[in-house]
Amino acid sequence: MGIDFAGKTVLVTGASSGIGREIALRFAVARSCLALTYFEHKAEAEEVAELCRGLGAPEVLIASLQLADDDSLRTLVETVVDRFGAIDILVNNAGVIVWRPFLAQDFGDIESQLRVNLEGVMKLMWAFLPMVSDAVITIGSTATLHQSRTPPTYCATKWGLRGFVKALAVERPGKRFVSVHPTVTATRMNDQQGMPPERVADVVFRVAAGDIEVEPGGDVDMRDYADA
Ligand SMILES: NC(=O)c1ccc[n+]([C@@H]2O[C@H](COP(=O)([O-])OP(=O)(O)OC[C@H]3O[C@@H](n4cnc5c(N)ncnc54)[C@H](OP(=O)(O)O)[C@@H]3O)[C@@H](O)[C@H]2O)c1
Repeated sequence: MGIDFAGKTVLVTGASSGIGREIALRFAVARSCLALTYFEHKAEAEEVAELCRGLGAPEVLIASLQLADDDSLRTLVETVVDRFGAIDILVNNAGVIVWRPFLAQDFGDIESQLRVNLEGVMKLMWAFLPMVSDAVITIGSTATLHQSRTPPTYCATKWGLRGFVKALAVERPGKRFVSVHPTVTATRMNDQQGMPPERVADVVFRVAAGDIEVEPGGDVDMRDYADA
């Protein structure tokens, strides 16, 4: 398909570091307009925005987002609509993990992961879907495809998200919904150990461009790109 993303608007959540940062840079090379969110690391987000401008992104907006906070979500929608009107591609990337076994997590740990990784992403989709013209790519986890040692609470949030994406694809056949599932990736979340995040970003870009074909609501397993 090879969609030309020049001038298209792409919203990437959690673009201040790791996989989201690399996704932003990849679309910047394609000269997309970017709306990038950060949570706690504004200076890093500003640096990413500057890099994106240097790579060719004609417009870059950075905006704060706390996925667990409804007011923050509403403010983001207003900010993005004011600046861009609509978006072409939404990349749901932001996420959190608590690296402790289930019984070592307290109710707050369980709630915060569910609120950020599942409820927050669902609400963000509720708010943005009417203004997404093309595709929604959601970053899941290979923990939903293969049994792993990933903590169960986090797994539950990502399994929930995967099911949500599949059901949305049936309900809204006019849009493209895909989940891209990273395996262990070298970001802050994973102590900088694993696959380079650029590789995940490249696959996300190729999915968005239609160069990697995926059925509606389907899954891309980053383990299939381990040697790419
Ligand atoms: N790394 C891996 O091994 C791996 C494996 C499978 C799946 N994933 C998934 O890949 C995605 C990206 O993670 P990453 O590895 O790139 O980790 P990362 O470097 O820690 O990046 C996480 C991003 O999410 C943002 N964020 C954190 N809490 C947030 C909140 N409450 N509301 C809104 N944004 C929030 C962070 O913003 P600030 O930095 O500004 O706070 C940051 O931009 C996540 O969905 C993760 O679950 C990662």
